[in-house]
Amino acid sequence: MLLEDTDRIFRNLYGFHDSGLKGAMARGAWDGTKFFIQKGHDWIISEVKTSGLRGRGGAGFPTGLKWSFMPKADARPSYLVINADESEPGSCKDREIMRNDPHLLIEGALLAGFAMRAHTSYIYIRGEFFRERERLQRAIDEAYEARLIGKNNVHGWDFDLYIHHGAGAYICGEETALLESIEGRKGQPRLKPPFPANVGLYGAPTTVNNVESIAVVGDILRRGGHWFAALGLPNNTGTKLFQISGHVNRPCVVEEEMGIPLRQLIDEHCGGVRGGWNNLLAVIPGGSSMPLIPAELCQDLTMDFDSLTKLKSGLGTAAIIVLDKSADVVKAITRIAYFYKHESCGQCTPCREGTGWMWRVLERMSRGEAQKSEIDKLFDVSKQIEGHTICALGDAAAWPVQGLIRHFRHEIEARIDAYQAAHRQAAE
Ligand SMILES: Cc1cc2nc3c(=O)[nH]c(=O)nc-3n(C[C@H](O)[C@H](O)[C@H](O)COP(=O)(O)O)c2cc1C
Ligand code: SF4
Repeated sequence: MLLEDTDRIFRNLYGFHDSGLKGAMARGAWDGTKFFIQKGHDWIISEVKTSGLRGRGGAGFPTGLKWSFMPKADARPSYLVINADESEPGSCKDREIMRNDPHLLIEGALLAGFAMRAHTSYIYIRGEFFRERERLQRAIDEAYEARLIGKNNVHGWDFDLYIHHGAGAYICGEETALLESIEGRKGQPRLKPPFPANVGLYGAPTTVNNVESIAVVGDILRRGGHWFAALGLPNNTGTKLFQISGHVNRPCVVEEEMGIPLRQLIDEHCGGVRGGWNNLLAVIPGGSSMPLIPAELCQDLTMDFDSLTKLKSGLGTAAIIVLDKSADVVKAITRIAYFYKHESCGQCTPCREGTGWMWRVLERMSRGEAQKSEIDKLFDVSKQIEGHTICALGDAAAWPVQGLIRHFRHEIEARIDAYQAAHRQAAE
């Protein structure tokens, strides 16, 4: 069964209605906000914990738990930073929220900020999102004018919200690189610990959350944590914005229940795989860093954190890239490897050197110009990068390569055989 309209949070996802304050209020935004604030910081955190919400930025860390790490009494100010960098290839949901339902994000920011005792929040928006920034700023201005946020606002919690425009580097989506960038430095990840909840923006307690994680908070409080927890699957609750691109008939962004079967998502929302389901080769299920899943494992696959982890992949940002049988899967992963090589910030040797090495080997492999023994060596090098770097970009670079070898080794070998046979023939 598909998500009921009554359970939809993002009711203007496609921008068919007014994205301004009047339209947002007509859809329910800013309703009851003062009442939730009067219930107190801990009540909000407890409702978000009850909802089972897991961060929508990729790692799926429980949101309420993360907020509870923020100090309750500290001489330093607390900050909420909202990650709107959205640079993972395939991901395109946060921009729809900012374009079409920005008030859900602003209201969520106030509620989350209050829960963590933050009077100031920054939204770090990807450099390329110029129009999204304009829309979002317009909505922030409206919220200030209506005294929904700002000093002495109607909600009784002083709250300032600023947009910080990035310059378009993927690594600035990593939360500590993002903080460096806001502070005016080069966007390079920090060593952890200390974690941002202890030492974050300007050395003060900070929580970084994804746009979608924050934008759902108003509705969670309005309808109750239990309502959200009843949607989806245990430990994988709520609704989720799925983004489906690649070889489907109608690529789209759609809100659905967590745990929806992949096939239903593709057939009912995207008009099916190009050429029909049997023409499916593989999917990359959660943005380009998630290991691909071959067609034979897709038949009964449900789209949630735990099911995908069991298959040695991940839900990530729920950006599903569909590859049909016309795709050259080795070339596709080679292109992804190039992306990660290009975006490495260069601080750690395994990532700086390893991403380039993997890409160069894959370039040869995609032409068949390699030895079969190099396949295991490539896998081994990817394992030496994974988990041995300052930030998870190293993992993000290693995982797609591992997925390719795990499921399409035969394809690489066939290419090497074909290349060697062609060269033998030419030599004879
Ligand atoms: C290289 C890299 C890029 C990232 N890019 C983004 C991004 O664009 N947006 C995002 O929300 N999280 C991104 N993340 C994850 C963030 O570091 C952080 O975990 C997330 O913003 C936390 O939000 P959540 O708890 O609401 O999921 C990235 C992580 C890494 C390692
Ligand atoms: S893993 Fe890569 S991107 Fe992350 S800090 Fe190290 S070099 Fe930079």
